[in-house]
Amino acid sequence: MSRPAEKPALSPNDLEAFWMPFTANRSFKKRPRLVSRAKGMHYYTPEGRAILDGVAGMWCTNAGHNREPIVEAIRAEAQAVDYVPPFQFGNPKAFTLANRISALAPADLDHVFFCNSGSEAVDTALKIALAYNNVRGEASRVRLIGRERGYHGVGFGGISVGGMGPNRKQFGALMAGVDHLPTTYNREKQAFSKGEPEWGEHLADALEGLVALHDASTIAAVIVEPMAGSTGVIPAPKGYLKRLRAICDKYGILMILDEVITGFGRLGFPFAAERYGIVPDMITFAKGVTSGSVPMGGVIVRKGIYDAFMKGPEHMVELFHGYTYSAHPLACAAGIAALDLYREEKLFERAYQLEPKWADAVMSLKGLPGVLDIRTVGLTAAIDLASKPDAVGKRAYEALERAFFDENLMLRTAGETLVFTPPLIISEDEIGEIVEKTAKVIKATA
Ligand SMILES: Cc1ncc(COP(=O)(O)O)c(C=O)c1O
Repeated sequence: MSRPAEKPALSPNDLEAFWMPFTANRSFKKRPRLVSRAKGMHYYTPEGRAILDGVAGMWCTNAGHNREPIVEAIRAEAQAVDYVPPFQFGNPKAFTLANRISALAPADLDHVFFCNSGSEAVDTALKIALAYNNVRGEASRVRLIGRERGYHGVGFGGISVGGMGPNRKQFGALMAGVDHLPTTYNREKQAFSKGEPEWGEHLADALEGLVALHDASTIAAVIVEPMAGSTGVIPAPKGYLKRLRAICDKYGILMILDEVITGFGRLGFPFAAERYGIVPDMITFAKGVTSGSVPMGGVIVRKGIYDAFMKGPEHMVELFHGYTYSAHPLACAAGIAALDLYREEKLFERAYQLEPKWADAVMSLKGLPGVLDIRTVGLTAAIDLASKPDAVGKRAYEALERAFFDENLMLRTAGETLVFTPPLIISEDEIGEIVEKTAKVIKATA
């Protein structure tokens, strides 16, 4: 048999082969926004142009880019061990990191299950919720409740409980037995709120309605983000999460807090659960755990959940779930180094202290052409823009391009919303720079 002819080699500058995720591929490939280096608060294009990072990559690099202690930890671990199987064997660093993470989590959230992304963390948490109800003798609890406008990654579990239409509509019937709480956003009642809006606590009561409809005995868990990020920064209304927690308690429903974005300092605390004074049953995390340097995600669970599985013959696997790259050595080393940096440089406290200045600075953009709402919480902000006639999303895309090419600023967009989530090392001058550049972009795209 003769070998098939090889495909013609692509030239190194050919951008065609890479089908880019969540990207307008054709527009990007006509005018690529490439970055090939990073340091501190900046990315650098291949030709050396410095781009101010207004988004910590993608809510990831909380400690700033290419921090030497993290780079060094990864280098040293790669030299020591490339890979350790996480099933039936273990790398000491995985246990160290699990201990460090659980020490940051509230109350008795003290066991950590590792995976490689936020999407996997969400699917893991949903599976643990179902399995836990199984082992505690409540196997009829099979329903999962998410929220409109929620984002929980792109696994089938995550898009099923998620509430962003475009992420769901092309992918069939999704998981059965899922229902949704209403979004907590209401522009009329909340526009231009700094931090948690005053209006909206009562929206948690919608869970009572779902219990009446489905019966608590069929509901396993509720999953929400403390601040809905990917849909464009929607902070929880004051009192909302506490009220939701109380209703979950009343009916024996597990509460999963998706902290993939809010974990590791984004809202001024190790986890937003602490900011809101609640103890969820599980917390999902990713991104900031390694300051974005190596893929990693995970779920922190309460002791009672872990303990419920620890029965039966000791040679038996207790939970039939896990990933080849759960607790990868490079991710564990990077995670420990990132947590050291957060602690040494007090970066969570820094985010907390900067929040009022950040909020005031971003709110100064109110009144610019077509600015419909601005929301801030922790070191995050979103600016809703009025669309151009018949071209929803085009203005934000133009803003993204102008920011990158004309203002040397990286921002994110969600529909017609501009989103900012800078590294927690940002200086007050750099906050001013982001706001000044954004003002130019908003005016230029009006
Ligand atoms: C709240 C939340 N959950 C889950 C995810 C999915 O994470 P990943 O893209 O790492 O799969 C994200 C990503 O932004 C997120 O914001």
